[in-house]
Amino acid sequence: MTNPHTTAVHAGQAVTRPGQPSNPPIVTASGWSHADMETLDAALGSVEAGYVYSRNAAPTQEAFENAMTALERGAGAASFSSGMAALNAALHCALDGQPRKLVAATELYGATQTLVKQMAAQSALDVRWVDIRDTEVVAEALHTPPAGGALLFEVVSNPLSRVADARALLEHARAAGAASVIDSTFTTPYLIQPLTLGASLVAHSATKYIGGHGDVLAGVVVAATDEGALAVRKTRQLLGSNLSPFDAYLALRGLRTLPLRVREQNRNALGLARWLDQHPRVAHVHYPGLPSNPDHALAAALLRPGCFGAMLAFDIEDAGRAEAFAFLERLQVIQRIASLGDVATLASYPAHASHRALTPEQRHALGIGDGCIRLSAGIEDLDDLIGDLAQALA
Ligand SMILES: Cc1ncc(COP(=O)(O)O)c(C=O)c1O
Repeated sequence: MTNPHTTAVHAGQAVTRPGQPSNPPIVTASGWSHADMETLDAALGSVEAGYVYSRNAAPTQEAFENAMTALERGAGAASFSSGMAALNAALHCALDGQPRKLVAATELYGATQTLVKQMAAQSALDVRWVDIRDTEVVAEALHTPPAGGALLFEVVSNPLSRVADARALLEHARAAGAASVIDSTFTTPYLIQPLTLGASLVAHSATKYIGGHGDVLAGVVVAATDEGALAVRKTRQLLGSNLSPFDAYLALRGLRTLPLRVREQNRNALGLARWLDQHPRVAHVHYPGLPSNPDHALAAALLRPGCFGAMLAFDIEDAGRAEAFAFLERLQVIQRIASLGDVATLASYPAHASHRALTPEQRHALGIGDGCIRLSAGIEDLDDLIGDLAQALA
C-alpha cells in the first residue's frame, strides 16, 4: 500500500489496546468490517453477533440506550433523532399486529396530537379521544370492541400538569389486551417508571430532561420486553430516524446528572408555584404539588415522594395575548424558550407554541387560557427566579 491514493483511504485504522474507557467513545463509523465472511454473515443475521451498519445498531447510541433501559427498568431501548421520531416509532410498534384502534388522551403535546390525527386520516386508524383523568371513560373506550389496539397518554400533561392515574389506566389496558405507550417526557424515570406499572413502551423526548442542557435533539423508546425492544429497533431501522453518535454522547452525558437536576428542578417548581399562588396578579396556578390542586393526592401516590414535576403553568389575571407577551418580554433571568427540561428556567406561551395547532376553542376547552404562561423550572437560585417573576408581574 504505497500509492498515496490507497494509503490515504486505508491508513490510520483504530488501534485497540486493552482497557475500558471511562466514557463511551463517539464512534462515527457507519459500517463495520469483519475478519471473515462467516462472522459478517452472523452479524448481518443478529445484532448480538456484531455491528454491521449504524442504522441497525451502533455503540455510542447503545451506551445511551442501555442507560435508559436501566433507569426505566425495561428490557431494551432504541434511541431516535427526536422525541417525535420516538413517538412515531412507538405508536407504529404498539399498533403492529393489533386492531387499528387507538385510545388517546385529549391532553397530549400538540405535535403528538397532530401526528395521531394524521395517522387516523391516512391509515383508517380508529382514534377514541378521551379525558385521561376520567379512568371510567378510558376503561369503557378500551373495552368497547374491537378488543386490543393501543393506549397513549402522558402521565403529567402539557401544559397544565394534570395527572393521569397511570397505575389504574395500565391495568385496564392490560385487561383489554391493548398495548400501551406512555410519553414520560415530563416525568422522567426519576419520578415514575411506567414499565414497572405494566406499560408496553415508554417514550421520551430526550431533548428535555434526559439531555437536560438544551443542546441536543433526541428521543428514546424503552420497551418492557425483549420482543418489544427488538420491534422498536427494527422499526427504527426502516424509518431511519436514528440518533447520531455525537448526540447520543451528549444525551448520555446529560443523563448522568438527571436525578440531581430533576430533584432541584422539582424543588424550584414547588417554590415558584407557592409564590405565584399568593400573587394578586395571578388568577390560577396549575401545579399538582399545591395541596389545593385536584390531582395533588394522586400525584403524591404515583410519583417519587416529595416530587410533583418541574413543569407548572399559571394564568395572569384578565390577561390576553398582548399582556402575556409583555410579561414574557420583561423577564430577565428566565428565558423565553419554547422547550423544557433545561438547567435554565424557561417560560413559554402554550397558545402560540406547544398548542399552536389547536383552535382557540379547542385550547379553551382544554383549559388553556389566553393569559396562560408555562414555566419549566431550572436549577437556578429560587430567590433569583422569584425576583424575576416579581418584577415582570409588577
Ligand atoms: C411531552 C412531549 N412529548 C414529545 C415532544 C417532542 O419532542 P422533540 O421536540 O424532541 O421531538 C415534546 C416536545 O416539546 C413534548 O413536550
